[in-house]
Amino acid sequence: SRHPLTRLCAIEDVPDGGALQVVLPERPPLAVFRLEGRCFVTDDTCTHGNASLCDGDVEGGLVICPFHAGSFDIRTGEAVDRPCVKKLQTYEAIEDGGALYTVFPEG
Ligand code: FES
Repeated sequence: SRHPLTRLCAIEDVPDGGALQVVLPERPPLAVFRLEGRCFVTDDTCTHGNASLCDGDVEGGLVICPFHAGSFDIRTGEAVDRPCVKKLQTYEAIEDGGALYTVFPEG
């Protein structure tokens, strides 16, 4: 059975080519990115250390961590540049009526 949609933000609150941190109760903070108008959702905390990726630069579809300049592919969460090696968790991004929603996996 599918979990209900969780509203994350208004799409207009996410700068195109940038990121918005979304904090929901009892969950790790999320990063919402917008690339060429389309939204992508990942965990906000770098898998290498305690950095907020929303504070990093977005460049060529990558987010560059503000702490040690490792990077992740925003669309897939794959770690691209060291010292990041562990994939970033990604989430569904469902756009509807000007708002962005996700569905959290079971558990
Ligand atoms: Fe992100 Fe080190 S904390 S690269």
